[in-house]
Amino acid sequence: MKPTTAMRVPASEERVSIHKPSESKPESSLAEEVRTGLTAVPKTLPPKYFYDEIGSDLFEQICATPEYYPTRVEHGLLEDVVDEVVDLSGPEVIVELGSGSSKKTELLLQAVLSAQPSLRYVPIDVSEKALVDAGERLARRFPPLTIDALLADYQGGLKHECVREEQASKLFVFLGGTIGNFDHAEAVELVSTVRRQMGDDDRFLLGADRVKDHETLHQAYNDKRGITAQFNLNVLRVINKELDAAFDLRTFEHRAFYDPKLSRIEMHLHSKLAQEVPIRALDLTVEFDRQESVLTEISRKFTGQGLAQLIEEADMVIERHYEPENRYFSLIFARPA
Ligand code: SAH
Ligand code: AVI
Repeated sequence: MKPTTAMRVPASEERVSIHKPSESKPESSLAEEVRTGLTAVPKTLPPKYFYDEIGSDLFEQICATPEYYPTRVEHGLLEDVVDEVVDLSGPEVIVELGSGSSKKTELLLQAVLSAQPSLRYVPIDVSEKALVDAGERLARRFPPLTIDALLADYQGGLKHECVREEQASKLFVFLGGTIGNFDHAEAVELVSTVRRQMGDDDRFLLGADRVKDHETLHQAYNDKRGITAQFNLNVLRVINKELDAAFDLRTFEHRAFYDPKLSRIEMHLHSKLAQEVPIRALDLTVEFDRQESVLTEISRKFTGQGLAQLIEEADMVIERHYEPENRYFSLIFARPA
């Protein structure tokens, strides 16, 4: 029988679109943010610039180290609760912030598509390679899936028309504990932005890492093979490449430690020597003292109470709080208040 147009399943590449909202191009803010961060006292760099092609690959390697427990724990927890999450939310669209490889999300897509015939997936990420690789893989695995990937930062992506479609019921997801890269006020602002995109029937699934013994936390960011160190140093490679800078990566050292007062891991790069580094595209030379540090990432660890406060301040209520027996990680399932 000759297939009609209506019966034809579109080829996998036809079901993936990568949108690049021009106002939120990641490159446009790099110059400005590097200038601000490296002329500040103390010096800082935003973590979103770790994730070029090499950085995204290093992050996947971190996830596979024996020390970095969050990915495995969150994956196991999601496996246990995915059917209930899908039952309670019944989404026609899944919007994901910082989707990366979308490996854990695959559990959600699988569960939704075993209960209904179609689904639209809208991953938002600043890493083009991550979006393309995940998009191709998922479109091949799930023929009924349509993918509208947004190459954008969280705020830019959430404003995109693909997210604003009013009729469809949506599940917003933010996994990996990436919410920990924001201080409390920034996290409330981001979750509130999600909230503003939600209709009454939409739901939000948030993964967050928990406070635990300091040694476990320390090891997770100081793996023996030094993958996290390479990931941290990668931000200097990105700046060399994008802004014609002359960082010598051998003269900087990875440091990561847990600050119990602030309940957060801090990741730094320490200059091993006093030096001046030109950043030609910014017409700027940055001076470093010996042992001067650049804060490259915070990774906050939450208590149950801290998460409840975050969700409440973002005008949502927790419908389910899932955690494993050891309480290493939380999945919060929330709805608009
Ligand atoms: N959710 C995945 C990936 C976590 S790593 C997981 O749980 O394994 C964080 C991801 O967020 C990376 O893919 C990175 O490219 C993306 N990211 C980091 N900062 C971002 C920002 N400001 N806006 C959008 N994506 C961002
Ligand atoms: C993406 N984010 C949640 C990771 C974290 O644990 O903060 C990034 C990371 N940094 C070092 N290792 C992993």
